[in-house]
Amino acid sequence: MIEVPGDKSISHRYAILAALARGRSEIGRYSAAADCQSTLDCLKRLGVGVEKNGGDGAARVVITGAGIEGLRQSRRSLDAGNSGTTMRLLAGVLAGQLFDSTLTGDSSLRKRPMRRVIEPLARMGAHIEAREGNFAPLEIRGTALQPIEYKLPVASAQVKSAVLLAGLLAEGQTSVEERVPTRDHTEVALREFGADVRHVGHVVTVCGRPRLEPRQLEVPGDLSSAVFFLAAALILPGSNLVIHNVGLNPTRSAVLDVLGGWGAPINIVALRGEKGELIGDVSISHAELSGGVLSGGAIAQLIDELPMLAALGPYTEQGVEVRDASELRVKESDRIAALAENLRRMGARVEEFPDGLRVEGRAAGRLRGAEIDARGDHRMAMAFAVAALGAEGNSTIRESECVGVSYPEFVRVLERAAER
Ligand code: S3P
Repeated sequence: MIEVPGDKSISHRYAILAALARGRSEIGRYSAAADCQSTLDCLKRLGVGVEKNGGDGAARVVITGAGIEGLRQSRRSLDAGNSGTTMRLLAGVLAGQLFDSTLTGDSSLRKRPMRRVIEPLARMGAHIEAREGNFAPLEIRGTALQPIEYKLPVASAQVKSAVLLAGLLAEGQTSVEERVPTRDHTEVALREFGADVRHVGHVVTVCGRPRLEPRQLEVPGDLSSAVFFLAAALILPGSNLVIHNVGLNPTRSAVLDVLGGWGAPINIVALRGEKGELIGDVSISHAELSGGVLSGGAIAQLIDELPMLAALGPYTEQGVEVRDASELRVKESDRIAALAENLRRMGARVEEFPDGLRVEGRAAGRLRGAEIDARGDHRMAMAFAVAALGAEGNSTIRESECVGVSYPEFVRVLERAAER
């Protein structure tokens, strides 16, 4: 039995909305991820009261906000570290303030595309300057915003969220239409904090200038972290594993359907609602997997789980093919290239495409231990730590400390789970 840390995506959103609410919010099981700490650090610099009690996994964060107009200008630039969610969501919040801000990040984040948020925010009247119009640092000149109706050109929950958060500062109704549904934690959390949010078909609309109310919330366990343990249990013969209190929001849980469809014996019990989110206990045991093709609309809902699913390829009958996933090239690393390179180092047969890859199944031979270059990408390090469990010989993962970006306790918990 294990527990995983609080969900990273939800932690960011609760912290930001608590900062925009008027009064004292308490967030239980706030993620220990370095990314979520970056959000708290930025909020502190913006004059928000932030207190953290308790250690890893059990952290309670108390945030005292002063309303949607209660942020104060930071004298220094705001450092989002490695966190795309921090930068893109805060860009939305800061565009509509009556002061200027600079958002920056580490060398990986400064290479990731920001035009996708700059463009819709500019349509709302925002003034944002970026290197080559696309890369951080972002210089944001705060100004009054107008509402828009925006059709998302890329399936991205971060872009959707940036527009909805900017919509809080605009007078009137801001709506975002998405062709493919992406994670809806922002919408769920906005409603929870008292905003007027409506969902009709593929369009979500938020009413501007609400009074947000402080809340007491518990963050569900992070399914995207749980997936590494589900995969480890599937790989290691004789495994039985239960993961408690995992977030099972339907816009995030497609990975369970995929694994179930490949033959994984997954059971969900104690399913319950928690402030608009779904939580349950997930059990799994070792099984032979069929593998298959992942493509089309499903990709947006599997985006953070694709590294692990692809790295399971050599453990499946038919192999795993991922298509329509060029977004993976602009994550914390180029995840398609990193997967292909490291799987090949382990002896897998891999074909790389512009929008994905094909990893041959069991018939191509057992994986061998190898030296893995995680490229500083937390999900790459964790996916290969798990893939290495079933390989012949030892593997070494370079720069493995990057797991702290989402899951500082990962190695310790994996050791414990694998011992039993
Ligand atoms: C996230 C959305 C996804 C995901 C990221 C977290 C979020 O990114 O990959 O890890 O919290 O909204 P995109 O919006 O770029 O797809």
